[in-house]
Amino acid sequence: MNERDSEIMSQSLSMHGYVEGMDLESADLVILNTCSIRAKAEQKVMSLLGMLRKVKLAKPDMQICVAGCVAQQEGEHLLERMPHVDLVVGTQNIYNIGELLDLARTRPGYVAVAMQENYDIPRLMPARNEKISERLQAGDDVKLSKSAVFRKFVTIMQGCNNYCAYCVVPYTRGREISRKVNDIIEEVKVLVESGVKEITLLGQNVNSYGKTNIVTENGLPCSFADLLHKVAETEGLARLRFTTSNPKDLSDELMRSFRDIPSLCPQFHLPVQAGSDAVLKRMNRKYSVAQYLDLVDRLREYCPEIALSTDIIVGFPGETEEDFQGTMDLLDKVRYHGSFSFKYSDRPGTRASDFSDKVTEEVKTARLMRFQSRQDEISLERNREYIGRVKDIMVEDVGPESLKGRTDTNHIVHLHEHVVAKPGDFIDVEIYHAGQHSLKGKIV
Ligand code: 5AD
Ligand code: SF4
Repeated sequence: MNERDSEIMSQSLSMHGYVEGMDLESADLVILNTCSIRAKAEQKVMSLLGMLRKVKLAKPDMQICVAGCVAQQEGEHLLERMPHVDLVVGTQNIYNIGELLDLARTRPGYVAVAMQENYDIPRLMPARNEKISERLQAGDDVKLSKSAVFRKFVTIMQGCNNYCAYCVVPYTRGREISRKVNDIIEEVKVLVESGVKEITLLGQNVNSYGKTNIVTENGLPCSFADLLHKVAETEGLARLRFTTSNPKDLSDELMRSFRDIPSLCPQFHLPVQAGSDAVLKRMNRKYSVAQYLDLVDRLREYCPEIALSTDIIVGFPGETEEDFQGTMDLLDKVRYHGSFSFKYSDRPGTRASDFSDKVTEEVKTARLMRFQSRQDEISLERNREYIGRVKDIMVEDVGPESLKGRTDTNHIVHLHEHVVAKPGDFIDVEIYHAGQHSLKGKIV
């Protein structure tokens, strides 16, 4: 989501005549787009801002802007600690970044963090990137992440109403609002016409798409599964993905989409967070371990090929050894292809930050290591299942004697041979080697 927000800011700024710079020395403007999901992300922002203070002493005209969730959360307070910041832009205000920078030029230390209850995601069309994709197809060496031209994010929702006890998102991104179906379809169309092959629909909790506001012109309901079917009709769209889902709202209709929509990739990120009912309850996740496992079974029934991944928090307040063992057991039951795991981190304003029985740092570190090393073993075993199989990959990068691509299951595949192909092409490869984080293949 932050990546997409950065792109929105850069598109909006290019309309205001800004050009993306390559280094700090030549930059007239620096924007830090920030994340506050865990304390570590926030600490990174503060240390970068400390470094920028020195740069600004030498270059007083350089504007410094802090955008995103840390900006939203800290607002004015950020200026107390970092008075050299020119502009603080909240999560709903990034669309006006150009005007806000103009304002900040005459009023340095400008803060724009207002949040609206009934916020409508602006209809911002993506900058057409056909020139870049044409140049890449023609074999030009374009200096930018090549896969970024063919794989794009489209925001379908903003905010979250779930209030999981540990999570700062409902406070930094506001109430849950779904974008209009037509706006989404139009944005996808423009992207695909400009050469994009793969779209990832983005929201904090996509399963509740269309539930909190009207998203169609005729006022009729449109579920997330309906939206997927509509987006999949876009001619030329080869791959469709989405993220993220809360298991509590996962409908059978959505699970069936993996069987029924050919372009919907067999890959699903389904954050479980913990494998103990007691912890899940205190997290306010509203599902049990048994219910989650049932979802996994049904998903695999509809789509046996599906590659599952998840998010895990270790050391949530009150997590006992037995609770944590539940998470380890769940890992062995589901055997995720991959996972993102984190030590619980106190976030300001969240319910869990007031819980008293905090787990020590040492215990959290030990549990995280146990979890991650077991996950690494499983990822390797899972990846070995692909050996000997032929997979269709989308080419992302081509070198003289190498090539990198991605499977529909979201596995990176490296080829170590000369292949005549361009980024954005699809080629069949046979997998002959598996590592923990990637596969090796040869052209068929
Ligand atoms: N501490 C640790 N991890 C967190 N996440 C969200 N909030 C916290 C927190 N306070 C993790 C969850 C979520 C992912 C995006 O970040 O696992 O799914
Ligand atoms: Fe945070 Fe829970 Fe909303 Fe996900 S569903 S953004 S974890 S509050």
